[in-house]
Amino acid sequence: MDPQEFLERIKSLESEALAGFAAASGADALEAARVRFLGSKGLLGEVSKLMAKLDKAARPEAGKALNGCRERVSSAFGAAKARLSTEPEAGDALDVTLPGRRLPAGHTHLITRTSREICSIFEKMGLAVTEGPEVETDYYNFEALNFPKDHPSRDMQQSLFLEEGLLLRTHTSGVQIRTMEKTRPPVWIVVPGKTYRRDDDLTHSPMFNQVEGLVVDRGITMADLKGVLAEFARKFFSESTKIRLRPSFFPFTEPSAEVDIACVSCGGKGCRICKGSGWLEVLGCGMVDPALYDYVGYDANEVSGFAFGIGVDRMAMLKYRLDSIGRFYSGDVRCMRQFPG
Ligand code: PHE
Repeated sequence: MDPQEFLERIKSLESEALAGFAAASGADALEAARVRFLGSKGLLGEVSKLMAKLDKAARPEAGKALNGCRERVSSAFGAAKARLSTEPEAGDALDVTLPGRRLPAGHTHLITRTSREICSIFEKMGLAVTEGPEVETDYYNFEALNFPKDHPSRDMQQSLFLEEGLLLRTHTSGVQIRTMEKTRPPVWIVVPGKTYRRDDDLTHSPMFNQVEGLVVDRGITMADLKGVLAEFARKFFSESTKIRLRPSFFPFTEPSAEVDIACVSCGGKGCRICKGSGWLEVLGCGMVDPALYDYVGYDANEVSGFAFGIGVDRMAMLKYRLDSIGRFYSGDVRCMRQFPG
């Protein structure tokens, strides 16, 4: 056999093999190419048998060429194998029919939900939702609500004081003044928001939530106040919930009252939750003290009104039977997760 022809056979075999491995698009195609070129009965084996037909003198050079060819073809096979192991095979890379992985969906916090529930009951009675700042001036938090400077009535509501004249509001009542300053009567509002006090135990947190109510109009009486709160208790807890008013004191209402609801746990018989009394204190209220009308320029002979302040955290604890206010703010979501809103 002509050595030149032998060398050409090798050359064309090599280029065919390199192209074959480069084009292999999957494991099956690669294996087929391996068998065809490198297999025991493959084309390389076939060509090497032709060596015997060469003249002795031509064999060293032909053998060298054959070895070089075998090396390059083997390494092309190795490269194709490596390429296919990192590249997903066409077809099974992405199954678009699989359902997607769901992201866990969050929900409103139980306090937000309760605050909205409370507001919406009053909205149905005609009160409009209004808000005010959490950093409040001494004037709106105390002064214009008839808490004189250095008066002991301020001691009930200790807070964090910021720079001169500013504090974290101790209640939402300041929004009563802010709203009356801006609008002429009639005023019918509910005010949800965060409030702050120097308190911290099982039922008190330094940050808590209130919903304030204020109605100022012609001919408003204490009967209206009691009717509105009784209706609220029935809608928030249950139709059979009873309330009672006990005399109390707030500088900005006269007369003032604390409102109790019949215990949600024992219904009034007396238990551990209500400490045997059958009643639970849930909010403060009263008729707007006419002294406030002087601050905002209303005529006390023309209008009268009532106000109330509801502790949202306490309402939520009672309705959803939680044992500590800390459940709302601990950052441990296991408790709150039970109340998807
Ligand atoms: N602001 C009072 C408190 O935080 C509650 C209250 C509001 C009482 C409105 C009377 C009228 O304790």
